[in-house]
Amino acid sequence: MDAADPNLQVAAVAARPVKLKLTNVSKTYLNETQAVAAVQPVNTEIRDGEFVVFFGPSGCGKSTLLNIIAGFEDVTEGEITLDGVPVEGPHHDRLMLFQEHGLFPWLNVIENVMFGLKRQFRFKPKARREHARQFLQMVHLEEFEKAAIHELSGGMKQRVALARALAPDPKVLLVDEPFPALDALTRAKLYGDIQEIHQRTRKTIILVTHDPHEAACLGDRVLVFSGRPGRVKADITIDLPRPREINNPAVAECAAGIMAQLEASDE
Ligand SMILES: Nc1ncnc2c1ncn2[C@@H]1O[C@H](COP(=O)(O)OP(=O)(O)OP(=O)(O)O)[C@@H](O)[C@H]1O
Ligand SMILES: [Mg+2]
Repeated sequence: MDAADPNLQVAAVAARPVKLKLTNVSKTYLNETQAVAAVQPVNTEIRDGEFVVFFGPSGCGKSTLLNIIAGFEDVTEGEITLDGVPVEGPHHDRLMLFQEHGLFPWLNVIENVMFGLKRQFRFKPKARREHARQFLQMVHLEEFEKAAIHELSGGMKQRVALARALAPDPKVLLVDEPFPALDALTRAKLYGDIQEIHQRTRKTIILVTHDPHEAACLGDRVLVFSGRPGRVKADITIDLPRPREINNPAVAECAAGIMAQLEASDE
């Protein structure tokens, strides 16, 4: 594939099989005292290898929808299928990369990456280590495999978490605002890394953000959420060549377009 031709990239994504299908998925949280409607019915298809961004302001149900896809929350109505099979509960075919990285401080770097491989019986202990090492290389941390977690910077921790989420080879990687606590330079580097990893692994990725530049930089497609309860207000294909830099003027232009869709009136 010619990486410089965005139309080829868009066409290639459209030709791939559907990985995740959301049909009329809605969510109302039922607490003891009240019902909180969080997500209005969402219908969308996400294709194999697609990088989809859920974008929108605070409280419009982005994390709720991601948690439903992860299986941490039940749907109130509707259905989600993965490769045509209904999703029920958490499974390591859908792994979540959390904002707080969630690393185990009592394990060193490579042990953290190996942790998720324990359930996979195809790996003997030595093979587990070798496999984990490959993913540390992918995030450029191979020299830190024996380091303790507290010795790492915020960006390095987020990289270890990325390696740990990818090592078990999930079908879908779910990412909920992973970069807010990082400085601009570290974030820019991670944007490069995550795009490189996406190109190499062809993983289906869904990333949640309320930063339109981040959405334009990373997404093949951006679903714009708005309102409370949230709904999908726009579905935007980003046909810019990769890798994209966060400060690129074309990315800024797309980000402005995403904001315009968010702010557009419904009339
Ligand atoms: N466990 C819960 N119980 C009750 N209400 C909840 C729960 N989790 C979220 N909500 C409500 O659902 C709505 C959507 O919340 P959600 O966290 O999905 O939004 P978000 O788009 O991820 O926001 P942010 O950008 O601030 O993370 C909000 O009104 C929130 O108060
Ligand atoms: Mg959220």
